[in-house]
Amino acid sequence: MNWLDDMHEQLHQLDAQGLRRKLRVVDLLGGMRASIDHKDCVLFCTNNYLGLADHPKVLERAQKALLRYGAGAQAAALVSGNLPVHLQLAEITALFKGAEACLIFPTGYMANLAAIPALVGEGDAVLCDRLNHASLIDGCRNSKAKFLIYEHLNLEDLKKQLERAGKYRRRLVVTDAIFSMDGDLVPLLKVTNLAREFDADVYVDDSHGTGVLGPGGQGVTHHFPLKHHPAVVMGTYSKALGSVGGFVCGPKIFIEYLLNKARTFVFTTGLPPAACGASLGALEVLQQEPERVEKLWNNAKKIREGLRTMGYDIPRGAGPIMPIIVGENEEAVKMSEKLLEEGILVVAIRPPTVPKGTARLRLSISAAHTDVDIEKLFNAFKKL
Ligand SMILES: Cc1ncc(COP(=O)(O)O)c(C=O)c1O
Repeated sequence: MNWLDDMHEQLHQLDAQGLRRKLRVVDLLGGMRASIDHKDCVLFCTNNYLGLADHPKVLERAQKALLRYGAGAQAAALVSGNLPVHLQLAEITALFKGAEACLIFPTGYMANLAAIPALVGEGDAVLCDRLNHASLIDGCRNSKAKFLIYEHLNLEDLKKQLERAGKYRRRLVVTDAIFSMDGDLVPLLKVTNLAREFDADVYVDDSHGTGVLGPGGQGVTHHFPLKHHPAVVMGTYSKALGSVGGFVCGPKIFIEYLLNKARTFVFTTGLPPAACGASLGALEVLQQEPERVEKLWNNAKKIREGLRTMGYDIPRGAGPIMPIIVGENEEAVKMSEKLLEEGILVVAIRPPTVPKGTARLRLSISAAHTDVDIEKLFNAFKKL
């Protein structure tokens, strides 16, 4: 069979399993509104948790950076692509996250791919929550350290794996802060205490916690009264901050080491200036309008309670990500299509993004959702 026939056959198999993915064009109309095939809908699937992606101040800062520096950084950061706007963003991010230093990557995915292998390698062990984001898993695999998986948020199992990892040179526990497909929160205080008992370091991906958790949205490390700070906290500007780009925060020496070693930093063009400007704008708005975080949590509570009252089973978790587990792939897709007919976009998430048999509707809530949007969501779910 030639390679195209082989691919055709594999796509056919995905179709048969209800797993074929299709790209659709979503025309953003401002706020949480969009148009799909000329039909208006409200988005309940974005990571724009604070509604900052089209905030006037964010756009203004992006435009300013665009006009001042041009469309692209023109080179890798270590060549000539580290502009004043990059330095400013790195410094402000470190301050915001309470870290000594910060390194910016083009995406969060690229940050995870390189930062974990910078911390552990051959002869070390990396302990990874079973439901960690794909970029964390790829970062762990990239590291060549002994890869140990512990059951999702299961501290007993983590302890067992830490005992197993005793014979390795270094141990690194890698975890999401808020898990992207389940919406639950890592008990970071317990995880960091346990790691300390076994002389292990902790790497936390705060992509969904940044702008969401802790006072002023500073993130997971500000949400818990930690005795032992994680060695490294990474995150992304692409979710609550409404822009794009990854960041890694940690001790100065580590950041210095990372910028020498991280292949996804060394061998790629610096983040576009407009993206840096947008992120700076978002961080400024967040500082000036911390009530956005409160609004997000109020909206999430209202929606969680409303759906539960209707009989929908929403698992643990309190933040903006809400899964409704459906099970069968085709059923999840059908439900998503029916919601879209009612003007609500909630996407069906299927394997391999989530484990087999746990296909789900994944809602994500924003501070920018209005009461009218929420009413529309409830009406659509009532008709399901
Ligand atoms: C937990 C987590 N980490 C990392 C990433 C990657 O971030 P980015 O979109 O900036 O590549 C994502 C995004 O999907 C994520 O959910």
